[in-house]
Amino acid sequence: MSLTANWSYPTAIRFGAGRISELAEACKAAGITRPLLVTDKGLANLPITQNALDLLERAGLGRALFADVDPNPNEINLAAGVAAFRAGGHDGVVAFGGGSGLDLGKLVAFMAGQTRPVWDFEDIGDWWTRADADAIAPNIAVPTTAGTGSEVGRAGVLTNSETHVKKIIFHPKVLPSVVICDPELTVGMPKMITVGTGMDAFAHCLEAFSSPHYHPMSQGIALEGMRLVKENLPKVLANADDIEARGHMMSAAAMGATAFQKGLGAVHALSHPIGAVYNTHHGMTNAVVIPPVLRFNRAAIEDRIASAAAYLGISGGFDGFYDHVLSMRSDFGVPDKLRDLGVDDTRIDELAANAIEDPSAGGNPVELTLAAARALFEECI
Ligand SMILES: NC(=O)c1ccc[n+]([C@@H]2O[C@H](COP(=O)([O-])OP(=O)(O)OC[C@H]3O[C@@H](n4cnc5c(N)ncnc54)[C@H](O)[C@@H]3O)[C@@H](O)[C@H]2O)c1
Ligand SMILES: [Fe+2]
Repeated sequence: MSLTANWSYPTAIRFGAGRISELAEACKAAGITRPLLVTDKGLANLPITQNALDLLERAGLGRALFADVDPNPNEINLAAGVAAFRAGGHDGVVAFGGGSGLDLGKLVAFMAGQTRPVWDFEDIGDWWTRADADAIAPNIAVPTTAGTGSEVGRAGVLTNSETHVKKIIFHPKVLPSVVICDPELTVGMPKMITVGTGMDAFAHCLEAFSSPHYHPMSQGIALEGMRLVKENLPKVLANADDIEARGHMMSAAAMGATAFQKGLGAVHALSHPIGAVYNTHHGMTNAVVIPPVLRFNRAAIEDRIASAAAYLGISGGFDGFYDHVLSMRSDFGVPDKLRDLGVDDTRIDELAANAIEDPSAGGNPVELTLAAARALFEECI
């Protein structure tokens, strides 16, 4: 089966293997004539990135690259990207990469024309209205991992390099104008990034599905997203070149981020402070903490998870679902404990304080108190 389609929600998505060839056309569709391609350090010299630059150059759109982007990018990366954007006279961004490159690229396009500091646009109440919306440059997004779904999101995650706190920076116009979802770009991911990002997509769907808020559209998307991960992540890990399974994972990633408008939960509330302090991989961190959080939430989500299990073809209700998650974790080589990712227990008080302040905490079906966050960290580490 060839999975190729054009979708128009939540934004314009050109989906299909090989469609990176439409990069220059996508820029033109977004009104971008002098793009700055933003990606992270690891991707800068890979053939997929150089090919994207070749495509832009051949179409007369220049060959401008900014790649000074760390995993879990911070405001220093952002300031350097904004400076490069202004110095090069660019009129839009090609955000290229995993969540790190995508988020930072989207935020460069957002901040290039702003005068206020980026932290003024944290996703709190109507803070986004502080921005000069007319000064926001367009961006187009090209994911190279299948997990964060940042390509269909209106926010970027930015770590404060001084306080080591992850903040969500939001504006409706941060949503990419055009997305190219080309599963061939994800083939070269290191195996552990395939696992971590795939489990991030699963965590987005699971947490959105479990959150108590009323949002039936998201509920349906989250449920099918979980099924796509369950069916396809094992196939991708068995055969890295399985483009159809890679495509389904790319869909699941976009679906997770579409669904989590309904809310996230304690998995992300715990993993954000861990990532900010210990610089662990976001999705892998989530994968470690999912089972303890499922147990913590059990009373509130037991029935709902039992119906998801039935849809996913898992017998045994909540317990069957829980066991399936554990076996996914061990089959995929996800460690049992955060300690295996380099986390220690010396900063639990700080981590717990940040977890309950994290915006994801509010979507958890059981209230995440300071004591509960502390206990969960003790268990996970
Ligand atoms: N905006 C959102 O809604 C959202 C949601 C979840 C996570 N995030 C953020 O996204 C970031 C994590 O993103 P990620 O999990 O995609 O990882 P990542 O972007 O940090 O990339 C991980 C590593 O994989 C490499 N890589 C990426 N694609 C590759 C490819 N095709 N081939 C070879 N190497 C490749 C990168 O160079 C990097 O070294 C975190 O900062 C997290 O906070 C954002
Ligand atoms: Fe996530």
